Amino acid sequence: MSDALQKLPRHVGFIIDGNGRWAKERGLPRTKGHEAGIKNLDVVLHECFYTYQIPLVSLYCFSTENWHRPKQEVDFLIKYFTNYLKTNDFVKKFPGVKLNIMGDYTKFPPKLVKNADQVIAATKNETKFVLNLGINYSGQDELVRAYNRMLQDGVTAVDRATVEKYLYTHDQPPLDYVVRTSGEQRLSNFMLWQVSYAELHFPKTNWPAFGKTELHAALLEYQRRDRRFGSIKEETKAEDEPKQK
Ligand code: IPE
Ligand code: IPE
Ligand code: MG
Repeated sequence: MSDALQKLPRHVGFIIDGNGRWAKERGLPRTKGHEAGIKNLDVVLHECFYTYQIPLVSLYCFSTENWHRPKQEVDFLIKYFTNYLKTNDFVKKFPGVKLNIMGDYTKFPPKLVKNADQVIAATKNETKFVLNLGINYSGQDELVRAYNRMLQDGVTAVDRATVEKYLYTHDQPPLDYVVRTSGEQRLSNFMLWQVSYAELHFPKTNWPAFGKTELHAALLEYQRRDRRFGSIKEETKAEDEPKQK
């Protein structure tokens, strides 16, 4: 199935959106949408890591703004994340994957924090794949945190490399591709630094229905993109060169 794909992103980000609408369309409570959405994480992560061998995946699962949702919904999400981060399940499901959490997860209840710490410790020596999990995450907060940590360290001169060193994603390449499901066309505070030259894609499918076929289609879409990074195409450069007389 992946045969037609020759150009894959090294680092792909997913903004998980549309769980609530998926549930509403089916006459279900929003929490059922989250339940289905969490299950779908496994499908997409497995495809990315083991079918397509994409080494870095960033998932935006809970923003700093999501605390404004009804307490019952937030509590459900916390419960799902807590279960998702059970060490034995995680390492069995995701061999070779190192977990890196983006966001101040210490603001969650102790059980989630404990589970997260255990998975981080259990996977810290994995080198094949990385999962950046954004929970209580905000791109603006990540930058503020980076600047504060620089001040604490007495940093007096800052360049791009310095900023990158202080991000959750230090030592990682930037995002190549960001997919936001449900048709919304915004970043909602997702990895504002790392997204600088990423290709963006906004499929209409709600996250719980974004399965293998939709992922494959999204990766084909990436392959069609022409990334220039401010330069011009190599063949255009050649065409414009003065002809030798
Ligand atoms: C994404 O689905 C999950 C989180 C942001 C936690 P939503 O819950 O935002 O679903 P919609 O956008 O209301 O459909
Ligand atoms: C963005 O989704 C945050 C996450 C996917 C975690 P939201 O549903 O919270 O974003 P808005 O409110 O539609 O921008
Ligand atoms: Mg939403």
